[in-house]
Amino acid sequence: MKILGIESSCDDTSAALLECSKSGCFVLRESTASQIAIHKKYGGVVPEIAGRMHAEKIIPLIEHVLNGKKPDVIAVASGPGLITGLIVGVEAARTLSAAWKIPVISVNHMAGHIHSVEIDTKCHPREGGDQVGNDKSIEYPALALVVSGGHTEIIQIKKPGQYKMLGATRDDAAGECFDKVAKLLDLPYPGGPQISKLALKGNAKAIKFPRPMLNSDDYDFSFAGLKTSALYWLRDNHLVIPAKAGIQSHSKNCELRTVNSADFCASFEQAIVDTLVGKISRASKKFKPKTVILCGGVSANKKLRETLATAVARITPYSLFLTPSLSHCMDNAAMIAVAGYQKAQKKEYADLPVRSPANGAKAGWHKLKADPNWELGR
Ligand code: KG4
Ligand code: ZN
Repeated sequence: MKILGIESSCDDTSAALLECSKSGCFVLRESTASQIAIHKKYGGVVPEIAGRMHAEKIIPLIEHVLNGKKPDVIAVASGPGLITGLIVGVEAARTLSAAWKIPVISVNHMAGHIHSVEIDTKCHPREGGDQVGNDKSIEYPALALVVSGGHTEIIQIKKPGQYKMLGATRDDAAGECFDKVAKLLDLPYPGGPQISKLALKGNAKAIKFPRPMLNSDDYDFSFAGLKTSALYWLRDNHLVIPAKAGIQSHSKNCELRTVNSADFCASFEQAIVDTLVGKISRASKKFKPKTVILCGGVSANKKLRETLATAVARITPYSLFLTPSLSHCMDNAAMIAVAGYQKAQKKEYADLPVRSPANGAKAGWHKLKADPNWELGR
């Protein structure tokens, strides 16, 4: 089955064509247009600009990945996200579904991130490669730590498609916290990769930042206080602009004078990593999943990947640890297609109750709607 994936929920316009079967989902072609260069000027995503950029890029990207082929099904991220972006992907999917009379599947963006661990980029056998099967399938029950710019959630997946949110952030998401603190350091958007790069050369024990809600009796998070601690530390120690150059703090306090921006970034990153790993480890101990998944944009963070891999091996050694390849951590359409395939197998098309277009029924676009507040598993 050929699935066209479409993603436009934030600042990446993405299209992908995947060949999916029981042995896995192989990427035939994918392409993403990032808007980072434009939003950088404003220090964050500007919804109006994002919408316009998605509208400009979506059709050329789809045409490119299809490369003359016609998909059997379309999977589109219809929420959560920015309405100005979601609506572009959803309308493109509705139009193609109506024109080609093929079904369309509504995919939750966070479910897409979860399934990003199953994307296989190796060649499909029929495309000339020698790859057979996919060794990265999620085994159920699974637990997912989804960490992105807008979300930080622990999701339990008892069976394919059965999501339950165990906990979420009560204020800022982890990625948002990285981005906002990077802004304090005058580092460009998105700040997560910038902070983790600087952190490589720093001492993670230099500053003792709080590990918010680490020991609370739930699976929720809160990163707003950590951001404020970082702000106060920078204010009190005058380490503001020199971050780019890695210049030392001007602090009059002898102990702090030796703390530079790399140390600050390493200590801040460590606080986020400890909090995330602590919470998912506690959930793993309780729910004993067959797979622990780390996904979402922040899963590109090396320290987080390594620390959680080690924790899983130690705490639940029977669990498989899956995290996307670095090229599929950030928003992409291939993950939407894989999550769509999981629904396609059950014929969960957008026009429920399901009618197969092969029988001449409606193609399925009529009930497809963008839902910016679609929460997975609530
Ligand atoms: O999933 P994503 O591409 O978009 C959303 O759905 O939000 O995630 C983007 C987020 C940004 O906040 C970015 O700073 C963060 O992922 N990020 C990182 C790293 N790479 C991306 N955060 C920490 N370390 C990284 N290496
Ligand atoms: Zn995302």
